[in-house]
Amino acid sequence: MTTTVRTRVAIIGAGPAGLLLSHLLGRAGIDSIVIDARTRDQIENTIRAGILEEGTVDVLIDSGVTAPSRVEGHRHDGIELRFAGAGHRIDFKNLVGRGVWLYPQHEALRDLIAARLADGQDLRFGVTADRVEGADTDRPRVVATDSDGAALEIEADFVVGADGSHSVARQAVSGSRAGYFREYPFAWFGILCEAPPSAEELIYSNSPDGFALISQRSETVQRMYFQCDPDADPDALSEEQLWVELQKRVPGTTLNEGPIFQRDVLRFRSFVAHELLHGRVALIGDAAHTVPPTGAKGMNLAVADVVILEKALRALLLEGDERLIEAFPETASHRIWKAQHFSWWMTSMLHVAPDASDFDRLRQLGELRSVVESEAGSRWLAEAYTGWPLEGLA
Ligand code: PHB
Repeated sequence: MTTTVRTRVAIIGAGPAGLLLSHLLGRAGIDSIVIDARTRDQIENTIRAGILEEGTVDVLIDSGVTAPSRVEGHRHDGIELRFAGAGHRIDFKNLVGRGVWLYPQHEALRDLIAARLADGQDLRFGVTADRVEGADTDRPRVVATDSDGAALEIEADFVVGADGSHSVARQAVSGSRAGYFREYPFAWFGILCEAPPSAEELIYSNSPDGFALISQRSETVQRMYFQCDPDADPDALSEEQLWVELQKRVPGTTLNEGPIFQRDVLRFRSFVAHELLHGRVALIGDAAHTVPPTGAKGMNLAVADVVILEKALRALLLEGDERLIEAFPETASHRIWKAQHFSWWMTSMLHVAPDASDFDRLRQLGELRSVVESEAGSRWLAEAYTGWPLEGLA
């Protein structure tokens, strides 16, 4: 027995991209159904990174998802680039008049889920998308299995794959793995620890022993990462050894140490699907692209995709105007490739490749000095990190 339901936009994936799209469409009077294979608890409690650009925060606040008081006190007006034993502040506020918010993705997800449910929208957890069919017709559909194992079909005017880096929707748009792709010969060893912050702002550190990022979660919980081998075993090092590894990658700073209660190894890669649109199916967020985390662009890029796609869907579904949806891949790609470049650039500039020669190391220090000693260089970094304007897209 297959249950068939109808909606205007079927959205696979209740991550930031899928939920925000559904929310914005709802405000424009366009119904959607969002499905996700995970439970609500899994989505809300998986600890994720969270640098939000000013434009991303504006979208969340202006659309009524996030109360301004929730992000209060989380603004950062700069970061520190640390190399050769010294720290150099990149002052976002002075350079570009913008800032970023350290507001972890799971907090934004809690806001988005609450907003969706408060609006009485159709949001289904534990529902697995098996495939997308009919992309070339005006009745595309998602073939899925619900939480009881029963077959479910969602028929729609348009299907959106916001289903992350293992996207099922990608098959219908771009072929399952087809994309522009780059792997890196290093990964991040991430820890969460109970300790006070070690610095007021985030520290991105390049050292002869590799990269480290000193981030934060709260007054009592800190998030830190250090460069490691992609095949590193997260349980191989003792807590004491982890602190030695971290400390030696931020020479000249003393970290506040404390009990480590979570550890993970994050492999990273750069990816952009060859196609972002096929007929009446589009890809957004991590289904469309992945960036290494060094540039803090992941969720921001997903939100930018949503802003572009929502406008195009309004034109298509409310006015029958196909021009914006046809232009979606081109419009979205501009920002996607700028973010790909910035994420690759920050990653390459700050990490030490396993096969780096003395020339490579010295050239890298020259590159870092070119950025911090030049107002133009620092401003370019600040512009990209705080995010290119979303104006003109909405
Ligand atoms: C984090 O806090 O987890 C974080 C912050 C900045 C990044 C990546 C991760 O670039």
